[in-house]
Amino acid sequence: MNEFNYRDGQLYAEDCKVSDIVAEVGTPVYIYSQKTLERHFNVFDGAMGGLDHLICFSVKSNSNLAVLRLFANLGGGADIVSGGELFRCLKAGMEPNRVVFSGVGKTREEIRYALESGIMMFNVESEMELEEIQRVASEMGKIAPISFRVNPDIDPKTHPYISTGLKKNKFGVEVKQAVELYRKAAGMDAIEILGIDCHIGSQLTTLSPFEETVLKLREIVEDLEREGIQIRWIDLGGGLGITYNDETPPSPEAYAKTVRKAAEGMSQGFIFEPGRVMAGNAGILVTRVLYVKQGPVKTFIVVDAGMNDMVRPSLYGAYQEIQPVVASDAKIVADVVGPICESGDFLAKEREVPNAKPGELLSVMSAGAYGFTMASNYNSRPRPAEVMVNGEDYFVIRRRETYEDLVRGEQIPPWLS
Ligand code: LLP
Repeated sequence: MNEFNYRDGQLYAEDCKVSDIVAEVGTPVYIYSQKTLERHFNVFDGAMGGLDHLICFSVKSNSNLAVLRLFANLGGGADIVSGGELFRCLKAGMEPNRVVFSGVGKTREEIRYALESGIMMFNVESEMELEEIQRVASEMGKIAPISFRVNPDIDPKTHPYISTGLKKNKFGVEVKQAVELYRKAAGMDAIEILGIDCHIGSQLTTLSPFEETVLKLREIVEDLEREGIQIRWIDLGGGLGITYNDETPPSPEAYAKTVRKAAEGMSQGFIFEPGRVMAGNAGILVTRVLYVKQGPVKTFIVVDAGMNDMVRPSLYGAYQEIQPVVASDAKIVADVVGPICESGDFLAKEREVPNAKPGELLSVMSAGAYGFTMASNYNSRPRPAEVMVNGEDYFVIRRRETYEDLVRGEQIPPWLS
């Protein structure tokens, strides 16, 4: 469910007419519904009711300060993968002790910054990283709370680029090695063992891989307990899928039921790192049709948003629904393409899409997660504005970039003057 619906033939974001927002802010523009974000958080949180848990929103899916503030206000934390994401969380007023730090390549500076900030824990992905964290923490006279990210070799049955829990992926430590590493960590004076972590992939549409994961982690936790190593938190990562087209992903309630059942009798608390399921269907990308071009074999609808603004279709062959901003049943089979000089620059390919004419607006649906965060300045295109809607109000939460923004930080060496 989301808050992007038609009224009298006009697309609305909550109680704001999309075309009114565009008249002021221009295109392309990302529009997020606050109510939808709130509902997604509350539904997930509610589904976990009774279970000791913390929801750490995955910042990589949507890192706008306003979105982070919203989740912080709702009691959420954050899953981060860089110093930059930590900076955003702190700026947004998020409690550092609700932030977990994942990723295979944390730098010394990032580790230091996270320790200074007092994050909840590091999700450690290798033995060398453990040693680095021990060194940095010890130099700083601090104790670093950690969990190991385990790679359980479970197939999430999703796109290869967003599968992370297979042996061949770069993530986490092997199950076989995990207990050994915990033993090693237990003997380190600047390390505190707090949890165990896992993230097997994204856009999962079945529950069995999650169930297998919990059972696998459970085995490890029990092995550790037998050795006197106590685990306080089990972090299950993110991954719950959403409907882009005709997928039927499990509901958060069904997901929660699976987790509860697999974890029955365990005393640990659970951390979840949902991204897409929180933000994906809470956002749209609105773009304007520039031209319609009849090629020798197909029709191209050329719009003002390109793969630099929304890369998912180009990168993953992902399906993003395209709807007209002024309702119309007129359809055409066409490619919806952007202005980027690459043949891979498309939002939809050989698909039945609205038969939109130059000047008309189209809405790329389910664009709230991995939309703006993956946008770039390729072809020197300023990145779009972002708007948050709340009932009849809306607010520009990131202004459109300017040409000056494009060259900020660049310098011409004196010998070229
Ligand atoms: N935790 C960790 C450690 C992750 O790596 C990810 C996503 C998440 C949580 C959140 O997963 P989610 O709940 O959103 O599925 N750019 C791709 C998705 C990449 C996901 C990477 N990791 C896309 O547009 O589909």
